[in-house]
This record gives sequence, C-alpha cells and structure tokens, in this order.
Amino acid sequence: MKLNGLPAKDKKMREDFIKKNSLNKEEEIIENTLRPKSWEDYIGQEKIKTNIKVIIEAAKKRGEIGCEHLLFYGGSGLGKTTLAGIAAKELGGNFRITSGTAIKKTGDLAAILSNLNPGDVLFIDEIHRLNKLIEEFLYPAIEDFKIHLVLGKGLMARTMEINLPKFTLMGATTRIALVSSPLRARFGATFQLNYYLPEDLEKIIKRSADLLQITIDDEAIKQITVASRFTPRVANRLLKRVRDFVQVSGDKNHIDKKSVEKALGFLEIDNMGLESGDRKILEVLIEKFSGGPVGLKSLAAATNEEEDTILEIYEPYLLRLGFLERTPKGRTITSLAYKHLNKKQQNAKKLL
Ligand code: ADE
Repeated sequence: MKLNGLPAKDKKMREDFIKKNSLNKEEEIIENTLRPKSWEDYIGQEKIKTNIKVIIEAAKKRGEIGCEHLLFYGGSGLGKTTLAGIAAKELGGNFRITSGTAIKKTGDLAAILSNLNPGDVLFIDEIHRLNKLIEEFLYPAIEDFKIHLVLGKGLMARTMEINLPKFTLMGATTRIALVSSPLRARFGATFQLNYYLPEDLEKIIKRSADLLQITIDDEAIKQITVASRFTPRVANRLLKRVRDFVQVSGDKNHIDKKSVEKALGFLEIDNMGLESGDRKILEVLIEKFSGGPVGLKSLAAATNEEEDTILEIYEPYLLRLGFLERTPKGRTITSLAYKHLNKKQQNAKKLL
C-alpha cells in the first residue's frame, strides 16, 4: 500500500527511513544457514509449536488473512525470531523484522506499516523498548488496521486516517514485565520460551554440524552442550568457534573431545559454560561485597557492565545454575558458586 496522499515531506521521511533502517541487515541474518526454516527442523519448545500450529490452522480454516497477534518472551538466543519466522512462512506472508529500538518516532512506524502487504507478519523485537507515544500509535493499527497521522502543527494540524492491509504483529521481548499491560492485552496469545534440555541442544548441535559439513563425536557434542548456557544460539556459536579451531590446526573437518577442550580453554569458557564476564560478576560479589546481598546498580558499577547486560545475559544463567540468588535486598552468591570458583566461603547462603 502506498501513502500517495501524503505530503512530499512525509513521503521522503518514509523513504529515508526505509533506506536507513535495519530491516535489510536483519533479513540477512535470517538467511543464516543454521536457522531452521520449518517446524520439522525446529527442535524443542514443543508445546509452543503445537499451539502456534493450531492458531494458524484455525485462522486458515476460517479463511482469515494472517492470525491473531502473537507475543514471545524469553531469554535471548532461545529462538523467538526463528519461531515467528516459521509462523510467518506458514501464514504465507512476508516476514518483516524491526525492533523497539529502531522505531524512534511515530513516523518510523508509519513508514513500516504503510509498506506492509496483506498477510505480512511484522516482527518487533525488543518490543518493550517502544515508547508510550509509539505504543499508542500502534494500537489502532493492530486493532482496526488503521493509523492516524497528524499533519501540520498547531492550529493548522489535521489528522488523517489511513487504512492498512491486514497484517499480523509478532512481538518479542526478553523483559515481559516491561511490556505495558495495554500492549500485552492486544496480543491474542503470549508464549514463554524455555531454556533447552540437553538432549534438544545435542540434536541442534548435530544438525548444525551437518549443515556446516563437519563431523563431530558424541562426546564433543555433549561438551559443547554443557557449555552452551541451555541456549541454541550459544551452542551454534561455540560449534562455529570450535570448527574454526580445528580447521586452523589442520584437523580439517572433524571435531572431537580434545578439540572442544582446547577451544573452550582458549575462549576462557569453563566446564559449566561460564565465561569471563560471568566469573567477573561472581568474583566482584565475593571480593567487593562479601558475597552480597548487593543491588543491581552497585553490581553494575563495580563490574563495569550495563545493568541490562547483567539482567539479560549474565544473571539468568547464574540464577539457573544456582550460583546466584535474587533476594529483596539484592543479589547474593551461593555456596555452589564458591565451590565452583574454588574459593573459601564467606557468608554464602547455603543451598544444602
Ligand atoms: N538453531 C537455533 N535454534 C534452533 C532450534 N530450536 N532447532 C534447531 N536449530 C536451531
């Protein structure tokens, strides 16, 4: 659909936005060779897959274009974009990706929406980062497939209603609590992606190795699994790094236990998958805060990390391993973490 009625300035704004925004870059990422493109290839998250299939099939049976708007949440790298991409393929529409951080003005969103075709899926990653004004601009778009543009300023301002094609919004967030309730309420279904079971990660690593045309021992698969933070993106990243190592060391295309050990050692990833950043957090907690409790702000300042990085990257894994506990007073290290780091326990909260 074209915004032919728009004044030249707004049309230019739309064209500029489309030229410079990150849709194309993101589309390249989706072409990533390892990303599953069908339900059969997508391993794990079985309940979510079944639910989405039912939603899509029911919508198709009713002869609708697209389906209900869907919201995905869960840690980064768990496959929210991939799931949405497969759902879009099933629905038969284009998959348009943008993110809450890329949409800074309502005009940015207007540009994206007015370029959709009937049946397209608009995927907004990090949807919790949309500001309130943009959220409100989005509501009529997803409820009635209309947007209201304000043209001109002050007394001369007029609003113009524009009809949009019927599209499906798919939102993704790592921080569900930061998605406002009015926005959450406008999604027909919300899905929480879980961390992966080791057996699913093993299958994912095997599949990726096949796609990369390398052979890998079962033991090596298990080792990568343990280091992959229950997350397919990390598993695939490690697999690629190990492959680089074996190719450089002349072992060509076979990965065994030894090569994984060597590569993980070089990357400073330990046998529980902790990276230097994770260890820094634990060590700072011990050395500067006597094991805690410590608030997020102080921890971020002492480790020189962004609060969001701690919240979204480090902490979920440390909590999951039982190395960290979140209490109303702040983060506290556990005795398991002391043991793992081989450090003498101070006031760690005893888990056993
Ligand atoms: N690569 C990343 N996530 C995956 C998944 N869930 N299944 C298969 N391959 C993947």
